[in-house]
Amino acid sequence: MPLDIVVGTQWGDEGKGRIVDLLAREAQFVARYSGGDNAGHTVAAQGRLLRLHLIPSGILHPEAICALGAGMVVNPARLVSEIDELESLGIGASPTRLKLSSSAHILTPSHLALDGAEEAGRGSREIGTTRRGIGPAYADKAARRGLRAGAMRDPEEFGRLVEEQVRAAGRLLEGLYDLPAPDPAEARRAYAGYAERLRPHLADVGALTAQALARGENVLAEGAQGTLLDLDHGTYPFVTSSHPTAPGALLGLGVGARHLRRVIGVTKAFQTRVGAGPFPTELFGADAERLRGSGANPWDEFGTTTGRPRRCGWLDGVLLRYASRLNGLTELALTKLDVLTGLEPLRVCRSYLFSGGEAFDPPPDPEDLAACTPLYDTLPGWTETIGGTRSWGDLPPAARAYVEAVERIPGVPIRWISVGPEREQVIRRGEPV
Ligand code: GDP
Ligand code: IMO
Ligand code: MG
Repeated sequence: MPLDIVVGTQWGDEGKGRIVDLLAREAQFVARYSGGDNAGHTVAAQGRLLRLHLIPSGILHPEAICALGAGMVVNPARLVSEIDELESLGIGASPTRLKLSSSAHILTPSHLALDGAEEAGRGSREIGTTRRGIGPAYADKAARRGLRAGAMRDPEEFGRLVEEQVRAAGRLLEGLYDLPAPDPAEARRAYAGYAERLRPHLADVGALTAQALARGENVLAEGAQGTLLDLDHGTYPFVTSSHPTAPGALLGLGVGARHLRRVIGVTKAFQTRVGAGPFPTELFGADAERLRGSGANPWDEFGTTTGRPRRCGWLDGVLLRYASRLNGLTELALTKLDVLTGLEPLRVCRSYLFSGGEAFDPPPDPEDLAACTPLYDTLPGWTETIGGTRSWGDLPPAARAYVEAVERIPGVPIRWISVGPEREQVIRRGEPV
């Protein structure tokens, strides 16, 4: 009855989508458990590039049932268009294989407007959110005035509830922020329509997960965002409003801890962050541009969801060790090793200089993280193109030494190394489970 959880160990965009696509070959049930369409998971497979924001990457595997768990906030307009897009590509996302938890929360046009208004109100303390309404939707959930997907069973009544919510939020937008509010009557019409479309997808995802586990199926929980964006354990307040970490998967799906088999941490071979907040190993100028790329390649470091250039830097081992502790990682998948080709030398942050001493853990107060100076190990680079390499032994010795240096930091084995965005551009280490 195994449950495997895939989490990002950094600030998101580690390549979770492509690793889930790989693992989903052996899974019968794949579910997202937190966040919403702030996520952007790119999967390159069978000659096409898919960008998924709400639907799990497992959808590419026709045998897998896919689900959106209770811990998510769902923009129904985006979900409907994502379903349509998949169907137009011949990828089935019908209610028989795509399930939406009745307990997931629904995002409305007011949440989108409030996200923008709150960001503008923060001035220089702007978080740099994706402006997808995520924070306001989770705020309504925590305040116990949110709208849950289950309400879509009655489209007319659901439309009325949305109208009420949009009208109430409109008073805030106009009164407090002096901004135009979304039209409540229009929201009512649109949302009644989404409910009509989406109600056949409604399900008790917790029960479906339990049934899949009871049948002995492999269940894969697909993380969105990353460990350092966790609301409680990330670099608060520069975080998202949900729990992308492994415990968040149990809560967000509604499944007990005893089913857990593996927690797979996806780590990019270097560090990136989109949005504001501390980033000790950040690089600027030519070094950063080398890691980011020009934008000419689809995998260059520009946000999948917002198109913003990502901030780039050396791999931060202190934060990787922290992510390993927090998630209880059993193994790692290292992505984008190919991007390091040609860089000389390579650096990995092993510890911080903080408050006059050497620190191996991040300081508990995220504000102090900005004051940490990274201490680096320097490693030789390599010049060979590795995108075609499929076995560990065929990697250049310096690339192997880099991988070994990374896995030594948290003491967790790197079981997959990706050397390009395509499904088959992966090196597997160790025996399959
Ligand atoms: P996610 O949000 O964690 O799923 O990651 P994103 O999809 O936002 O960003 C990862 C990007 O890197 C995507 O464009 C992937 O296609 C690409 N990618 C993933 N693995 C590799 C790799 O090993 N090498 C290269 N060059 N690109 C990769
Ligand atoms: P995936 O799943 C990278 C970041 C935003 C911002 C902060 C809060 O593709 O890895 P929010 O809109 O959630 O309120 O924004 O979190 N962020 C992400 N960064 N990848 C993501 O998802 C992200 N989802 C949110 O940039 O800094
Ligand atoms: Mg992404």
